[in-house]
This record gives sequence, structure tokens and C-alpha cells, in this order.
Amino acid sequence: MSRALATSTPRQQHPLPAGLDPARLPSHVAVIMDGNGRWARRRGLPRVMGHREGVEALKRTLRLCSDWGVGALTAYAFSTENWNRPGEEVNFLMALFERVLEREIEGLEREQVRISFLGDLEPLPHRLQHLIADATVRTAGNGGIRFNVCTNYGGRAELVRAARRLAERAARGELDPASIDEGCFAAELHTAGQLDPDLLIRTSGEQRISNFLLWQLAYAELHITEVLWPDFNAEALLSALLDYQNRQRRFGGVDPAC
Ligand code: IPE
Ligand code: IPE
Ligand code: MG
Repeated sequence: MSRALATSTPRQQHPLPAGLDPARLPSHVAVIMDGNGRWARRRGLPRVMGHREGVEALKRTLRLCSDWGVGALTAYAFSTENWNRPGEEVNFLMALFERVLEREIEGLEREQVRISFLGDLEPLPHRLQHLIADATVRTAGNGGIRFNVCTNYGGRAELVRAARRLAERAARGELDPASIDEGCFAAELHTAGQLDPDLLIRTSGEQRISNFLLWQLAYAELHITEVLWPDFNAEALLSALLDYQNRQRRFGGVDPAC
């Protein structure tokens, strides 16, 4: 229970750091939580210990985003390619997701977090699917931060699924193919109705997208840090947000100062 988000007394909120402009915070932050294995290896520990510690980093990041006024956090927890890992590691991760969800659901409810799981959930263990469905329903009416956990998520699979759903509607005569536009395509994605991420953070220094949110990241600002995910903390998040606030987003337009 000591590691749980739930506490009987209201927890201390993190004040917004002085250097951050609350009016220019990203509405939606996405994060590729990478480097758990390397974190463990550097300590002579089994890789899975990095995943366990990674959960603490995720809880920390969710609280900080919520307290600082970020509207949505989307975290990449398990990709469609992560099934290629050794069976033991995959099994550990599935069991970890179950344990964490069970342990944290009350705290998430209390803190008004609205949790969703994005991805193809059917291949997940049945117990995990039940916990996911329960957490989704129990937090659906919450008005706090939106927390998307990408689980068995792949950007390409999501795009193919959207195309298939539109094609099925067209084949049924419910949709004129000529009327398909970006809005109607986006409405078939797992993120339907949500704003695109403004900022993508990737930890552990890798400079790639790894099949994450291929559509939604079209205009996200990218922040890559060498920090390994289990070490990700307030200082690392602040660096990412300050980096974001120093960017000039042009969306294909021109810099008015030039
Ligand atoms: C990210 O850490 C967690 C998942 C992909 C589930 P990794 O397990 O990829 O850690 P590294 O990249 O091997 O260090
Ligand atoms: C991306 O990390 C997936 C998650 C963080 C869940 P990986 O470690 O799987 O990505 P690659 O293999 O280095 O591209
Ligand atoms: Mg990795």
C-alpha cells in the first residue's frame, strides 16, 4: 500500500515551477517510456526490475502533469512489437499491469484521473482485460487529467483498423468514400475526440518513433532525453516542458518575426 497512489489524507500538490508559463503548457503530453532494461542492467539487476521502477516514474509523471495543469498524458506501455520479447518478460509485464491497476484504481478515482487504454486489447490476458474495462468505466466520468495507456498499441495497426472501419461503413452504404476527410479518419482512431499531443518525450536517448501515434504526432514537438525512464522525475519533466516553451510552432506557416 505504501507504493500506492491512494492515501487516506489528501496528498501534497506539486506547485508549478517558477520558470514555467502556465498559459503555454502543452495540453497533451505523450511519452515513450524507454530505457527500463538499461536502467536495470546498469545496476546488475534483471531487466524486469527496470519495469517495476518504471511504474514509479509513470505515477510520478502523471501526478506532476496533473498538478502542473497538463490536460492529458499518453504513455506507451506495450507496443505491438513488444510481443517479440522473451516470454518471461512479456508475462512479467502483463502481471505487472494487472497488479498496478488493481493497486492504483482507488487512487486514480480519488484524484479524478480519467484512464483509457489504447490499442488492441483482445490479445491481452483475460484478467487484465477485465481490470482495464473496470478501470475505464469507473473513471469515465472523472474531470481531471486524461491518462491514456497504450497497451498492445501500434500506430500502423491503428491506421489499418481505421481504414477498415471506414471501408466497412462504405460497403454498407453508410458512407460516401468521397466524403472521407481527416476529421472522419481521426474519428476512427483510438484517440477519437482527443486533442493531438503537443509534445512527445522519449527517454533513453533513442531517436525514433517506434510505431507510436503515427497520425497524432504529425505536429508534435519532440524532446529526446538521455534520462532512462525509471529515473524520469520532476527535473526531467521540467526540462522537457521548458524546451517545449522555447519552441516556435509554425504548423507550416512562417515565423512572424522573419
Ligand atoms: C521500455 O523499456 C519498456 C517497454 C518497452 C515495455 P525497455 O524495456 O525497452 O528498456 P531498454 O530499451 O531495453 O533499456
Ligand atoms: C517502445 O520502446 C515501446 C514502449 C516504450 C512501450 P521499445 O524499446 O520497444 O522500442 P525500440 O525497439 O527500441 O524501437
Ligand atoms: Mg527499449
